[in-house]
Amino acid sequence: MAVTEPDFLESLNDLGGRVAIVTGGAAGLGLRTTQYLAQRNCIVYAASRNREKSLRAIADAEATLPDSHGAIKFHHLDLSTVEGARRSAEAFQKLEDRLDIVVANGGVSMLAQNELSQDGFERMFATNHLGHFVFVTTLLDLLKRTSKSYGDVRIVVTSSIGYRNATGLDYSALTQARPGDGDSVWDVIPAFVRYGNSKLANMYFTIELDRRLREEGYTDMYCNSCHPGFAGATNLGGGGFGPWGGAWAENVIRLLMKPLNSVEDASKTQTYLAASAQILQQDVHGQFWAPVWSWTQRYLRCRAASLTELARDEEKQKQLWAFWERATDMAKAT
Ligand SMILES: NC(=O)c1ccc[n+]([C@@H]2O[C@H](COP(=O)([O-])OP(=O)(O)OC[C@H]3O[C@@H](n4cnc5c(N)ncnc54)[C@H](OP(=O)(O)O)[C@@H]3O)[C@@H](O)[C@H]2O)c1
Repeated sequence: MAVTEPDFLESLNDLGGRVAIVTGGAAGLGLRTTQYLAQRNCIVYAASRNREKSLRAIADAEATLPDSHGAIKFHHLDLSTVEGARRSAEAFQKLEDRLDIVVANGGVSMLAQNELSQDGFERMFATNHLGHFVFVTTLLDLLKRTSKSYGDVRIVVTSSIGYRNATGLDYSALTQARPGDGDSVWDVIPAFVRYGNSKLANMYFTIELDRRLREEGYTDMYCNSCHPGFAGATNLGGGGFGPWGGAWAENVIRLLMKPLNSVEDASKTQTYLAASAQILQQDVHGQFWAPVWSWTQRYLRCRAASLTELARDEEKQKQLWAFWERATDMAKAT
Protein backbone atom coordinates (compact mmCIF):
# COMPACT_ATOMS: atom_id res chain seq x y z
CA MET A 1 0.00 0.00 0.00
CA ALA A 2 1.18 3.52 -0.78
CA VAL A 3 2.70 5.37 2.17
CA THR A 4 0.51 8.18 3.51
CA GLU A 5 2.05 11.57 4.22
CA PRO A 6 1.62 11.20 8.03
CA ASP A 7 3.19 7.72 7.92
CA PHE A 8 6.09 9.01 5.86
CA LEU A 9 6.71 11.88 8.28
CA GLU A 10 6.50 9.45 11.18
CA SER A 11 9.28 7.37 9.57
CA LEU A 12 11.68 10.34 9.96
CA ASN A 13 13.65 11.47 13.00
CA ASP A 14 12.47 14.42 15.04
CA LEU A 15 15.00 16.96 13.74
CA GLY A 16 14.52 19.56 16.47
CA GLY A 17 17.74 21.56 16.96
CA ARG A 18 19.27 20.29 13.72
CA VAL A 19 20.21 22.45 10.74
CA ALA A 20 19.90 21.44 7.08
CA ILE A 21 20.62 23.00 3.74
CA VAL A 22 18.86 21.89 0.56
CA THR A 23 20.32 23.11 -2.72
CA GLY A 24 17.59 24.08 -5.18
CA GLY A 25 15.47 24.02 -2.03
CA ALA A 26 12.94 26.63 -3.15
CA ALA A 27 11.44 24.79 -6.13
CA GLY A 28 10.46 21.32 -7.30
CA LEU A 29 11.66 18.29 -5.38
CA GLY A 30 14.02 20.43 -3.29
CA LEU A 31 11.16 22.56 -1.99
CA ARG A 32 9.13 19.50 -0.98
CA THR A 33 12.21 18.06 0.76
CA THR A 34 12.68 21.38 2.56
CA GLN A 35 9.05 21.19 3.73
CA TYR A 36 9.34 17.59 4.92
CA LEU A 37 12.44 18.42 6.98
CA ALA A 38 10.80 21.54 8.46
CA GLN A 39 7.72 19.47 9.31
CA ARG A 40 10.08 17.36 11.41
CA ASN A 41 11.23 20.54 13.21
CA CYS A 42 14.50 21.13 11.39
CA ILE A 43 15.86 24.58 10.60
CA VAL A 44 16.21 24.35 6.82
CA TYR A 45 18.02 26.68 4.45
CA ALA A 46 16.62 26.60 0.93
CA ALA A 47 19.66 27.50 -1.17
CA SER A 48 18.97 28.98 -4.58
CA ARG A 49 19.81 31.68 -7.07
CA ASN A 50 16.77 33.89 -7.19
CA ARG A 51 16.04 35.59 -3.87
CA GLU A 52 12.62 37.11 -4.66
CA LYS A 53 11.24 33.98 -6.30
CA SER A 54 12.59 31.80 -3.48
CA LEU A 55 11.18 34.01 -0.72
CA ARG A 56 7.73 33.75 -2.31
CA ALA A 57 8.02 29.94 -2.51
CA ILE A 58 9.25 29.77 1.08
CA ALA A 59 6.34 31.92 2.32
CA ASP A 60 3.87 29.63 0.51
CA ALA A 61 5.57 26.54 1.93
CA GLU A 62 5.59 27.92 5.48
CA ALA A 63 1.90 28.74 5.21
CA THR A 64 1.15 25.02 4.79
CA LEU A 65 3.10 23.97 7.88
CA PRO A 66 1.55 23.48 11.30
CA ASP A 67 2.32 26.01 14.05
CA SER A 68 5.16 24.22 15.76
CA HIS A 69 7.60 23.49 13.00
CA GLY A 70 11.18 24.30 12.15
CA ALA A 71 12.07 27.36 10.17
CA ILE A 72 12.66 27.70 6.44
CA LYS A 73 15.25 30.32 5.47
CA PHE A 74 16.71 31.50 2.20
CA HIS A 75 20.42 31.20 1.43
CA HIS A 76 21.89 32.50 -1.80
CA LEU A 77 23.66 29.92 -3.95
CA ASP A 78 24.62 29.84 -7.61
CA LEU A 79 25.90 26.39 -8.44
CA SER A 80 26.85 27.25 -12.00
CA THR A 81 30.19 28.82 -11.05
CA VAL A 82 32.98 27.70 -8.72
CA GLU A 83 33.09 31.16 -7.19
CA GLY A 84 29.31 31.22 -6.58
CA ALA A 85 29.35 27.81 -4.89
CA ARG A 86 32.40 28.62 -2.77
CA ARG A 87 31.14 32.03 -1.70
CA SER A 88 27.78 30.59 -0.68
CA ALA A 89 29.37 27.85 1.44
CA GLU A 90 31.76 30.32 3.08
CA ALA A 91 28.87 32.67 3.91
CA PHE A 92 26.88 29.78 5.38
CA GLN A 93 29.70 28.91 7.78
CA LYS A 94 29.41 32.39 9.27
CA LEU A 95 25.66 31.96 9.79
CA GLU A 96 25.46 28.68 11.66
CA ASP A 97 27.76 26.76 13.97
CA ARG A 98 26.32 23.39 13.02
CA LEU A 99 25.18 21.70 9.83
CA ASP A 100 23.63 18.27 10.17
CA ILE A 101 22.14 17.67 6.73
CA VAL A 102 23.07 18.67 3.19
CA VAL A 103 20.77 17.64 0.35
CA ALA A 104 22.61 18.36 -2.90
CA ASN A 105 19.44 18.43 -4.97
CA GLY A 106 19.69 21.44 -7.29
CA GLY A 107 20.27 20.74 -10.92
CA VAL A 108 19.62 21.37 -14.59
CA SER A 109 18.82 18.99 -17.41
CA MET A 110 18.37 18.88 -21.17
CA LEU A 111 20.63 21.79 -22.05
CA ALA A 112 20.78 20.75 -25.68
CA GLN A 113 23.35 23.38 -26.61
CA ASN A 114 26.77 22.17 -25.63
CA GLU A 115 28.19 25.37 -24.18
CA LEU A 116 30.70 26.00 -21.44
CA SER A 117 30.19 27.54 -18.02
CA GLN A 118 32.09 30.61 -16.82
CA ASP A 119 34.77 28.22 -15.51
CA GLY A 120 35.05 26.41 -18.84
CA PHE A 121 33.09 23.20 -18.18
CA GLU A 122 30.03 21.77 -19.95
CA ARG A 123 27.09 23.55 -18.30
CA MET A 124 25.15 20.57 -16.89
CA PHE A 125 28.37 19.12 -15.52
CA ALA A 126 29.27 22.54 -14.05
CA THR A 127 25.97 23.00 -12.20
CA ASN A 128 25.01 19.46 -11.28
CA HIS A 129 28.45 18.21 -10.34
CA LEU A 130 31.22 20.82 -10.05
CA GLY A 131 29.05 23.36 -8.18
CA HIS A 132 28.06 20.70 -5.66
CA PHE A 133 31.62 19.40 -5.36
CA VAL A 134 32.85 22.87 -4.44
CA PHE A 135 29.85 23.67 -2.23
CA VAL A 136 30.00 20.45 -0.20
CA THR A 137 33.80 20.30 0.14
CA THR A 138 33.83 23.93 1.32
CA LEU A 139 31.26 23.00 3.97
CA LEU A 140 33.20 19.94 5.12
CA ASP A 141 34.89 21.58 8.12
CA LEU A 142 31.51 22.59 9.52
CA LEU A 143 30.01 19.18 8.76
CA LYS A 144 32.92 17.43 10.46
CA ARG A 145 32.66 19.68 13.53
CA THR A 146 28.93 18.91 13.70
CA SER A 147 29.62 15.19 13.52
CA LYS A 148 32.21 15.43 16.32
CA SER A 149 29.79 17.35 18.57
CA TYR A 150 26.47 15.70 17.76
CA GLY A 151 27.10 12.66 15.51
CA ASP A 152 24.84 11.59 12.64
CA VAL A 153 25.58 13.94 9.75
CA ARG A 154 23.95 13.26 6.38
CA ILE A 155 25.10 14.24 2.89
CA VAL A 156 22.57 13.25 0.25
CA VAL A 157 23.31 13.80 -3.43
CA THR A 158 20.33 13.73 -5.79
CA SER A 159 21.40 11.77 -8.81
CA SER A 160 19.20 10.14 -11.43
CA ILE A 161 18.72 6.75 -12.99
CA GLY A 162 19.70 8.75 -16.09
CA TYR A 163 23.31 8.20 -14.97
CA ARG A 164 22.93 4.90 -16.86
CA ASN A 165 23.09 6.92 -20.10
CA ALA A 166 26.59 8.08 -19.18
CA THR A 167 29.41 7.08 -21.46
CA GLY A 168 32.14 7.96 -18.93
CA LEU A 169 33.98 11.12 -18.00
CA ASP A 170 36.13 12.40 -20.83
CA TYR A 171 37.78 15.32 -19.07
CA SER A 172 39.03 17.00 -22.23
CA ALA A 173 35.60 16.80 -23.95
CA LEU A 174 34.03 18.33 -20.83
CA THR A 175 36.04 21.47 -21.44
CA GLN A 176 35.28 21.88 -25.16
CA ALA A 177 32.24 23.74 -26.48
CA ARG A 178 30.57 22.30 -29.58
CA PRO A 179 29.23 25.26 -31.58
CA GLY A 180 26.07 24.34 -33.48
CA ASP A 181 25.06 21.67 -30.96
CA GLY A 182 21.40 22.00 -30.06
CA ASP A 183 20.40 23.21 -33.53
CA SER A 184 18.96 19.82 -34.50
CA VAL A 185 16.34 17.65 -32.83
CA TRP A 186 18.93 14.83 -32.75
CA ASP A 187 21.10 16.87 -30.37
CA VAL A 188 18.72 15.83 -27.65
CA ILE A 189 20.42 12.42 -27.50
CA PRO A 190 23.94 13.72 -26.70
CA ALA A 191 22.28 16.08 -24.20
CA PHE A 192 20.85 13.04 -22.36
CA VAL A 193 24.34 11.53 -22.35
CA ARG A 194 25.90 14.74 -20.97
CA TYR A 195 23.23 14.90 -18.25
CA GLY A 196 23.99 11.24 -17.46
CA ASN A 197 27.70 12.05 -17.22
CA SER A 198 27.03 14.88 -14.75
CA LYS A 199 25.06 12.45 -12.58
CA LEU A 200 27.72 9.75 -12.92
CA ALA A 201 30.26 12.30 -11.67
CA ASN A 202 28.05 12.92 -8.64
CA MET A 203 27.92 9.19 -7.99
CA TYR A 204 31.74 9.04 -8.03
CA PHE A 205 31.84 12.11 -5.79
CA THR A 206 29.46 10.63 -3.21
CA ILE A 207 31.22 7.28 -3.01
CA GLU A 208 34.73 8.76 -2.85
CA LEU A 209 33.70 11.39 -0.28
CA ASP A 210 32.16 8.70 1.90
CA ARG A 211 35.30 6.56 1.59
CA ARG A 212 37.57 9.48 2.49
CA LEU A 213 35.50 10.47 5.50
CA ARG A 214 35.46 6.92 6.82
CA GLU A 215 39.22 6.59 6.35
CA GLU A 216 39.55 9.75 8.44
CA GLY A 217 37.38 8.16 11.15
CA TYR A 218 34.14 10.09 10.49
CA THR A 219 32.03 6.96 10.52
CA ASP A 220 28.86 8.79 11.55
CA MET A 221 28.84 10.96 8.45
CA TYR A 222 26.57 9.21 5.95
CA CYS A 223 27.04 10.11 2.26
CA ASN A 224 24.57 8.54 -0.13
CA SER A 225 22.96 9.35 -3.46
CA CYS A 226 19.58 8.57 -4.95
CA HIS A 227 17.26 8.53 -7.91
CA PRO A 228 14.13 10.44 -6.85
CA GLY A 229 11.63 9.12 -9.40
CA PHE A 230 10.09 10.75 -12.47
CA ALA A 231 8.10 13.85 -11.63
CA GLY A 232 6.96 15.77 -14.70
CA ALA A 233 5.40 18.55 -12.63
CA THR A 234 8.74 20.15 -11.71
CA ASN A 235 10.62 22.63 -13.92
CA LEU A 236 13.40 20.20 -14.78
CA GLY A 237 14.49 20.55 -18.42
CA GLY A 238 12.52 23.78 -18.79
CA GLY A 239 13.70 25.90 -21.69
CA GLY A 240 16.80 23.83 -22.39
CA PHE A 241 15.75 21.94 -25.47
CA GLY A 242 17.18 24.25 -28.13
CA PRO A 243 15.87 26.37 -30.98
CA TRP A 244 14.22 23.63 -33.12
CA GLY A 245 10.85 23.69 -31.40
CA GLY A 246 12.08 22.78 -27.96
CA ALA A 247 8.93 23.95 -26.19
CA TRP A 248 6.99 21.39 -28.20
CA ALA A 249 9.39 18.56 -27.26
CA GLU A 250 9.38 19.65 -23.64
CA ASN A 251 5.58 19.55 -23.51
CA VAL A 252 5.52 16.06 -25.00
CA ILE A 253 8.02 14.78 -22.43
CA ARG A 254 6.04 16.37 -19.58
CA LEU A 255 2.84 14.80 -20.89
CA LEU A 256 4.49 11.38 -20.98
CA MET A 257 5.78 11.85 -17.42
CA LYS A 258 2.47 13.13 -16.04
CA PRO A 259 1.07 9.72 -15.06
CA LEU A 260 4.31 8.86 -13.28
CA ASN A 261 5.35 10.22 -9.88
CA SER A 262 4.04 13.17 -7.89
CA VAL A 263 6.45 15.79 -6.57
CA GLU A 264 5.54 14.71 -3.02
CA ASP A 265 6.42 11.07 -3.73
CA ALA A 266 9.55 11.83 -5.77
CA SER A 267 10.92 13.88 -2.88
CA LYS A 268 10.67 11.06 -0.37
CA THR A 269 13.80 9.02 -1.12
CA GLN A 270 16.21 11.92 -0.64
CA THR A 271 14.33 13.01 2.47
CA TYR A 272 14.48 9.49 3.87
CA LEU A 273 18.25 9.30 3.31
CA ALA A 274 18.57 12.69 5.02
CA ALA A 275 16.39 12.02 8.03
CA SER A 276 15.46 8.40 8.71
CA ALA A 277 16.96 6.70 11.75
CA GLN A 278 17.25 3.54 9.62
CA ILE A 279 20.20 5.01 7.72
CA LEU A 280 22.21 5.18 10.91
CA GLN A 281 20.90 1.91 12.33
CA GLN A 282 21.69 0.03 9.11
CA ASP A 283 24.98 1.91 8.62
CA VAL A 284 24.10 2.96 5.07
CA HIS A 285 27.22 4.42 3.44
CA GLY A 286 28.18 5.33 -0.12
CA GLN A 287 25.03 3.75 -1.55
CA PHE A 288 22.66 4.66 -4.36
CA TRP A 289 18.98 4.42 -3.39
CA ALA A 290 15.81 4.45 -5.45
CA PRO A 291 12.09 4.38 -4.69
CA VAL A 292 9.87 1.34 -5.08
CA TRP A 293 6.54 2.20 -6.74
CA SER A 294 3.11 0.65 -6.64
CA TRP A 295 1.51 -0.26 -9.98
CA THR A 296 -0.26 3.13 -9.78
CA GLN A 297 3.15 4.82 -9.45
CA ARG A 298 2.70 5.70 -5.77
CA TYR A 299 5.65 5.58 -3.37
CA LEU A 300 5.86 2.37 -1.34
CA ARG A 301 9.37 2.59 0.13
CA CYS A 302 12.96 3.16 -0.94
CA ARG A 303 15.96 0.88 -0.95
CA ALA A 304 19.53 0.46 -2.18
CA ALA A 305 19.83 -0.05 -5.93
CA SER A 306 22.69 -1.72 -7.73
CA LEU A 307 25.19 0.37 -9.67
CA THR A 308 26.51 -0.18 -13.18
CA GLU A 309 30.08 -1.40 -13.56
CA LEU A 310 31.07 2.08 -14.77
CA ALA A 311 29.71 3.70 -11.60
CA ARG A 312 31.34 1.09 -9.34
CA ASP A 313 34.80 1.69 -10.83
CA GLU A 314 36.93 2.70 -7.83
CA GLU A 315 39.80 3.93 -9.96
CA LYS A 316 37.47 6.33 -11.81
CA GLN A 317 36.01 7.53 -8.50
CA LYS A 318 39.52 8.41 -7.33
CA GLN A 319 40.43 9.93 -10.72
CA LEU A 320 37.57 12.41 -10.38
CA TRP A 321 38.91 13.65 -7.07
CA ALA A 322 42.45 13.81 -8.45
CA PHE A 323 41.17 15.81 -11.42
CA TRP A 324 39.65 18.44 -9.11
CA GLU A 325 42.76 18.46 -6.98
CA ARG A 326 44.66 19.54 -10.07
CA ALA A 327 41.92 21.83 -11.41
CA THR A 328 40.97 23.62 -8.21
CA ASP A 329 42.34 23.90 -4.73
CA MET A 330 39.01 22.91 -3.17
CA ALA A 331 39.56 19.21 -2.68
CA LYS A 332 42.77 19.87 -0.73
CA ALA A 333 40.61 20.99 2.16
CA THR A 334 39.57 17.39 2.86
N1 LIG B 1 11.94 15.56 -11.76
C1 LIG B 1 12.44 14.39 -12.13
O1 LIG B 1 11.73 13.57 -12.73
C2 LIG B 1 13.85 14.00 -11.80
C3 LIG B 1 14.32 12.73 -12.20
C4 LIG B 1 15.62 12.36 -11.90
C5 LIG B 1 16.44 13.24 -11.20
N2 LIG B 1 15.97 14.47 -10.85
C6 LIG B 1 16.90 15.38 -10.13
O2 LIG B 1 16.21 15.96 -9.05
C7 LIG B 1 16.77 17.24 -8.76
C8 LIG B 1 15.66 18.27 -8.60
O3 LIG B 1 15.02 18.40 -9.84
P1 LIG B 1 13.52 18.95 -10.01
O4 LIG B 1 12.80 17.94 -10.81
O5 LIG B 1 12.99 19.40 -8.72
O6 LIG B 1 13.80 20.18 -11.00
P2 LIG B 1 13.47 21.74 -10.87
O7 LIG B 1 12.04 21.97 -10.51
O8 LIG B 1 13.97 22.34 -12.15
O9 LIG B 1 14.37 22.19 -9.66
C9 LIG B 1 15.76 22.32 -9.80
C10 LIG B 1 16.27 23.19 -8.70
O10 LIG B 1 17.66 23.41 -8.91
C11 LIG B 1 17.89 24.80 -8.81
N3 LIG B 1 19.01 25.23 -9.63
C12 LIG B 1 19.17 25.09 -10.96
N4 LIG B 1 20.31 25.68 -11.35
C13 LIG B 1 20.86 26.22 -10.24
C14 LIG B 1 22.03 26.98 -10.00
N5 LIG B 1 22.86 27.35 -10.97
N6 LIG B 1 22.29 27.38 -8.74
C15 LIG B 1 21.45 27.06 -7.72
N7 LIG B 1 20.32 26.36 -7.88
C16 LIG B 1 20.04 25.94 -9.14
C17 LIG B 1 16.60 25.45 -9.29
O11 LIG B 1 16.52 26.77 -8.84
P3 LIG B 1 15.70 27.85 -9.70
O12 LIG B 1 14.31 27.73 -9.21
O13 LIG B 1 16.39 29.11 -9.34
O14 LIG B 1 15.87 27.50 -11.14
C18 LIG B 1 15.58 24.55 -8.65
O15 LIG B 1 15.36 24.90 -7.32
C19 LIG B 1 17.75 17.55 -9.89
O16 LIG B 1 19.06 17.28 -9.47
C20 LIG B 1 17.35 16.56 -10.98
O17 LIG B 1 18.43 16.22 -11.83
C21 LIG B 1 14.70 14.87 -11.12
